[in-house]
Amino acid sequence: MNVNAFKIMFFPVKYYFYSMNIKINHRSVIFYFTLLLFLGLMSCQNKKSNSDSIIANQSQLISMDLHTLSNYHQLPILHTHLELTVDFNHKILLGSVTHQLPNSRDTNVLVLDTKYLAIDSVLDQNGQQLEYAFGPHDDLFGDPMSIQLSDKTSSVKIYYQTTEKSEALDWLVPNQTAGKNYPFMYTQGQSIFTRSWIPIQDSPGLRITYSAEITTSKDMMAVMSAANPQKMDSSNVYLFEMNQPLPPYLIALAVGNLEFKAIDYRTGVYAEPAMLKECAEELSDMGKMVNSAEALYGDYDWDRYDVIVLPPSFPFGGMENPRLTFATPTIIAGDKSLVSLIAHELAHSWSGNLVTNATWNDFWLNEGFTVYFERRIMESLYGLDYSDMLALLGYQDLNEEINALSPEMQTLKLKMKGRHPDDAMSDIAYEKGYFFLRMIENHVGRVKMDKFLKQYFKDHKFQTIITEEFLDYLNENLLDNFTAININEWVYEPGLPENCPKVVSSRFVNVELAINEFIENGVASISNNTENWSTHEWLHFIKHLPKDVNYKQLQSLDESFLFSQSGNSEILAVWFLQSIKVDYKPAFIPLKEFLIKIGRRKFLQPLYEELAKDENHKKWAKEVYQKARGNYHYVSFNTIDKILN
Ligand code: BES
Ligand code: ZN
Repeated sequence: MNVNAFKIMFFPVKYYFYSMNIKINHRSVIFYFTLLLFLGLMSCQNKKSNSDSIIANQSQLISMDLHTLSNYHQLPILHTHLELTVDFNHKILLGSVTHQLPNSRDTNVLVLDTKYLAIDSVLDQNGQQLEYAFGPHDDLFGDPMSIQLSDKTSSVKIYYQTTEKSEALDWLVPNQTAGKNYPFMYTQGQSIFTRSWIPIQDSPGLRITYSAEITTSKDMMAVMSAANPQKMDSSNVYLFEMNQPLPPYLIALAVGNLEFKAIDYRTGVYAEPAMLKECAEELSDMGKMVNSAEALYGDYDWDRYDVIVLPPSFPFGGMENPRLTFATPTIIAGDKSLVSLIAHELAHSWSGNLVTNATWNDFWLNEGFTVYFERRIMESLYGLDYSDMLALLGYQDLNEEINALSPEMQTLKLKMKGRHPDDAMSDIAYEKGYFFLRMIENHVGRVKMDKFLKQYFKDHKFQTIITEEFLDYLNENLLDNFTAININEWVYEPGLPENCPKVVSSRFVNVELAINEFIENGVASISNNTENWSTHEWLHFIKHLPKDVNYKQLQSLDESFLFSQSGNSEILAVWFLQSIKVDYKPAFIPLKEFLIKIGRRKFLQPLYEELAKDENHKKWAKEVYQKARGNYHYVSFNTIDKILN
């Protein structure tokens, strides 16, 4: 039986449960149950004799998204138009959203996801009021909104505004920006935050086109995951079109005192004027990255590729909003050493944005493929010894993660029911996913692997996919024996199968020698050998200092290599971690500054966790957090609140 049949079969069951509190169209229920019966019978007859068929073997297969209360599967919206004013004084977006609906449909109830939105009214295409009601509030999913349509309703227009609880939005005062003169705002949609700034069917299983009219104020430019302006518009009104269909989590908006600088004919950087030059220099390889990505896996399908460097509150390293990656300023290190993050977000233009995980249980399809693709881009630009350093650092993180995570969170295919999908953001999806693909590459050879991946992106472009569909595709197009390479173990079992590829990095072998020398003879004996080290060698060095490294040793390293004053955020983060463990006090001053200024969760979480292990450190951390919390996006402060409780 194929997956589409499954999707259709499961739909009525899910719809029934999720729409208990709204009027169910009886005709549609009868229709779907008849269809269910029919497909069930068909499937018995068609059952694949091939015992490798993944779909047939997975009894718990669910292709429905469990993190939406909307009826995106039954009545999927087609196009969304936003008309919003950005009100910095009240820190709200206000205006309307209009959703275009399909003509042929089996229900006249549209169910949207909303969370912490103030809805004013709902009108049809003729300006007639439509009835609407909310289902019970759920802390995870929000407040499902059911709108009663008639057979003639072709669109719904909802007047609404966001509230101070809208989780997607970060409103920054001028002091939190580089220029210190203008406020700033940005949205973060992934995974289920879009519903907190747009009433929408907020599922990665849906694809829509969108357009927008955004009204800002003087000297403020708006940019979106769409065709973007390159200059400030004195009317303060910006129009956007996004004609390539995308899942709602990729709708994104940023507004600030922004300028644009081109890198080449189709790539460029947006940033505050105070940072623009520096950012454009750091990211000057972007054009080459797009070329090399295209050479690997086919045409770039989103027209332009630009990056906006946001203020330091941004909770992620990067977010792959189509056409316009949102990035943290902490990648601007001055030596291009952290640009693999851009390769990563660019790679999402294929894995994630072109071919999208249909549910958050399949998140590894977005991230594992992207890490694989990212490292292939890095290899083609900077060489194998460079990308192998990245892979080895990833392998180390993965092993640490496996030791820390419960077994049910260590499978590629996850069961995220009842949990926040953001919890899926672990090295399992990223690194285990990467090593899974690298293992297949080792097995079939690079030529076959690349041909397969290129075809995979082509065959699934602008579509959504679940793990089992991918495995069936893999079965049909690349592999003929799943058991020989433990595919099921990789995907459905915890831990790392024994055929996980081993990465060796010659450059790290030297680092390990240096660590031993440092322990035996002190700093002087390694100074000469470290002159040409890249950030990644330093990261390996600092992370692998022995467990019993002492205060004096950290002090001597700090005096020679000035780690506490490093301008490189990744180096600072691992250095601070070592410093907390040893209570190396001189690092606590810059650590405090770092925690107050930077909102990137990947850095904050391990630092606060380490601080929370010791009562004195925890007390100190709580004091710092009082000053810092206001600088963090919801994504970050929600995590840190739990650590410091
Ligand atoms: N799409 C992710 C960010 C994300 C994941 C946001 C899950 C919300 C939920 C993005 O592509 C990403 O992976 N960012 C990483 C950087 C990357 C180089 C591993 C990050 O932010 O650290
Ligand atoms: Zn990613």
